[in-house]
Amino acid sequence: MKDILQQLDDRRDDARLGGGQKRIDAQHGRGKLTARERVHLLLDEGSFEEFDMFVTHRCTDFGMDAQKPAGDGVVTGWGTINGRLVYVFSQDFTVLGGSVSATHAKKICKIMDMAVQNGAPIIGINDSGGARIQEGVDSLAGYGDVFQRNIEASGVVPQISVIMGPCAGGAVYSPAMTDFIFMVKDSSYMFVTGPDVVKTVTNEQVTAEELGGATTHTRKSSVADAAFENDVEALAEVRRLVDFLPSNNREKPPVRPFFDEPDRIEPSLDTLVPENANTPYDMKELILKLADEGDFYEIQEEFAKNIITGFIRIEGRTVGVVANQPMVLAGVLDIDSARKAARFVRFCDAFEIPILSLVDVPGFLPGVTQEYGGVIKHGAKLLYAYGEATVPMVTVITRKAYGGAYVVMSSKHLKSDFNYAWPTSEIAVMGAKGATEIIHRADLNDPEKIAQHAADYEDRFANPFVAAERGFIDEVIQPHSTRKRIARAFASLRNKSVQKPWKKHDNIPL
Ligand code: HXC
Repeated sequence: MKDILQQLDDRRDDARLGGGQKRIDAQHGRGKLTARERVHLLLDEGSFEEFDMFVTHRCTDFGMDAQKPAGDGVVTGWGTINGRLVYVFSQDFTVLGGSVSATHAKKICKIMDMAVQNGAPIIGINDSGGARIQEGVDSLAGYGDVFQRNIEASGVVPQISVIMGPCAGGAVYSPAMTDFIFMVKDSSYMFVTGPDVVKTVTNEQVTAEELGGATTHTRKSSVADAAFENDVEALAEVRRLVDFLPSNNREKPPVRPFFDEPDRIEPSLDTLVPENANTPYDMKELILKLADEGDFYEIQEEFAKNIITGFIRIEGRTVGVVANQPMVLAGVLDIDSARKAARFVRFCDAFEIPILSLVDVPGFLPGVTQEYGGVIKHGAKLLYAYGEATVPMVTVITRKAYGGAYVVMSSKHLKSDFNYAWPTSEIAVMGAKGATEIIHRADLNDPEKIAQHAADYEDRFANPFVAAERGFIDEVIQPHSTRKRIARAFASLRNKSVQKPWKKHDNIPL
């Protein structure tokens, strides 16, 4: 009996060594942790329970029957993050380069199915050379099965991908369909075709890092939501993100203890908006002052900085924030910012996370590049996302809310629940100068008259009261009381329930 127990321990030890000490050392040499080290850092200490440790592949071609490492290149199982259940898979690059065989894919599918069935997030750690070349179409079929599960799990449980090594070819499409992608600087990359193929086909010369590294995907392509210095930091940040999220679409986000008064008054907000309407100010300052303990988890910080997206808590409860940033391009909406915010709004709506919108928007960015790039369709994504959302929505206009962008940014017309405006708000079709030049074109050669018209327009429209008179703004509020107002508003909306007519699914402008 003792021998059998010992055998189990020996088999486990062997499986835990993955591809062997030499390959583990090589992994460490590249500044990367092993698949198991990553899982242990991600989960609460001692909480990991592994599945399928002894699974091996069934391939016999190319001499593969001679090497059947236990676990087949991926560590899968479940555990907890700050006490809450999550499912995890972590590809083991030390085993056949973390390549995906039919059985490797099956292991991933198994925990994805468990996650959906039990309503818990799926976290995938990617570090793989892609399809197991020796297995051919069996490997592709495995990917297909994972893709299909990504789609079915979308909007049911949060899916988080962490890219911690190679992720290339069709393999990128599994992370691409998850809710958040995190990368590690200098040790991870994602691309559909690598530098060699790019060179052959388009004659462009790029390194793997330039083509698909963390900087590229957080700043240029927006494929990734954040980039971190190393594995340890990335995994710590995943834990922080999970704390903000509900476990599934039937649960509310967790309520955390908070140590910040919901009715905290912030006198500094009364002077946040500068006297001159064209002087920028930092919208992040407002977000930090509204959040419990000033804690803000920003999503896509490096991309389309003219709009800010991320999570805060109010009274310990998660709130998604979408805010125009006057410091960048005057907070204008454009293709990138509309796409970024639309995806964020849809995530919040899918997972019952209330949305706070902070508005200071001069309109949509004009230009040939924008029009040719389809700003009409991309702008419509944000409009659509807000309009279809049924979660509690509170909007605060701090300064400009002009034209179509006023309607798009969670206006009353899109069924936002509470629409507040600061006294510094200007809710109008456009700014005074532009408006005057159109409606008083005949006086364009008379600067004095034009100045007078502009002043008249400003008197009439550069305020929140015209909209408030019509009920498009529920209340004009003092900036210093904003946290108290939004906390009370969200508290009053906790049982909000909206019924929609049946449809198979919508047809958001993609
Ligand atoms: C089988 C693989 C493998 C793969 C790596 N290995 N990729 N085995 N199938 N796809 C093995 C290597 O043979 C090697 O084994 C070990 O993993 C480590 O690989 P190295 O090449 O030594 O590591 P490194 O120099 O770091 O290079 C990593 C790499 C490179 C850039 C990922 O291995 C590589 O280019 N691999 C092939 C990538 C590829 O073309 N994949 C298919 C893409 S198409 P030993 O025993 O020597 O240690 C695809 C389609 C998905 O993925 C479609 C989904 C629908």
